Amino acid sequence: MKSETLFDVRGLSVLVTGAASGIGFGYAEVMAANGAHVMLTDADAARLDAAVADLRARGGGAAERVTNSVADVTRPETLNTAVAAVLARRGRLDVLFANAGISAGPGFMSAGGTREEASAFERLSLETFDRALAVNLRGALVTMQAAVPAMKRQGSGRIIVTTTISLTRTEPHVSTLYVTSKAALGQLVRQAALELAAYGILVNGIAPGPTITNIGNGRLQDAAAREPFERLNPLHRLATPADLYGAALFLASPASAYVTGAQVVVDGGACLGSTH
Ligand SMILES: NC(=O)c1ccc[n+]([C@@H]2O[C@H](COP(=O)([O-])OP(=O)(O)OC[C@H]3O[C@@H](n4cnc5c(N)ncnc54)[C@H](O)[C@@H]3O)[C@@H](O)[C@H]2O)c1
Repeated sequence: MKSETLFDVRGLSVLVTGAASGIGFGYAEVMAANGAHVMLTDADAARLDAAVADLRARGGGAAERVTNSVADVTRPETLNTAVAAVLARRGRLDVLFANAGISAGPGFMSAGGTREEASAFERLSLETFDRALAVNLRGALVTMQAAVPAMKRQGSGRIIVTTTISLTRTEPHVSTLYVTSKAALGQLVRQAALELAAYGILVNGIAPGPTITNIGNGRLQDAAAREPFERLNPLHRLATPADLYGAALFLASPASAYVTGAQVVVDGGACLGSTH
């Protein structure tokens, strides 16, 4: 079996949420670069325009294969509009990346190894929790709900949810509210995979470790904030969105035809523990 067949995504109809930045933009990039038709969606209209212009300028037919629609995952009707636009254009939706997500502030330990009193357990903000749940958990659910009817009609589909390694792992430098919102997302992936298998729809997660993006106001772009993660990571570096290209291609392509309900962990070995 040749890799170009096994990992072939040419001509697939793909939709990505949170595609204007970071990991979602990386998914859109790798799908478009390999011949898929990609609808980028995001709540941030200006950033979305810039992302789409960037991809369209890359040649190789990308200008015709890349489209966009402003969609906020807290507003189901905007996702329905985006899915309807994909169906009007391509007649089908093969791959959905439910990716949009937000941070919920820093963890209870600072990069310097001291307690962050502002993030102490008793001070965790319920407003922030509601927002994290609305985007990270409910947002993924409504994104999947927007896509499932078309996938059921087709009798096929791939749903790929960006989760995190902190689904199951504790993270002192990451907000308790964030890891809690994402933990439930892990069960959403498993339960949806179980129910939707009968319709030929595969549901999987990509579980990244800390990745340098714009999340949390771009906190991980700062060397000092990255330091504890880098020190503790067995590979001593953080991921960039490019480190997730392979997992995205795998889960979108024939290579993963017998994989559902899984989490593809891409964390440089962070879950193994640390040698420091
Ligand atoms: N960066 C990391 O360390 C890391 C690690 C594990 C998982 N993740 C997850 O990866 C996903 C992508 O995050 P990222 O790190 O690329 O962040 P990012 O901030 O670079 O990109 C997230 C994008 O989502 C968009 N977005 C935010 N709220 C939205 C909403 N309500 N509706 C639609 N779009 C919305 C933002 O405008 C932004 O363009 C998130 O689900 C995040 O939890 C990130």
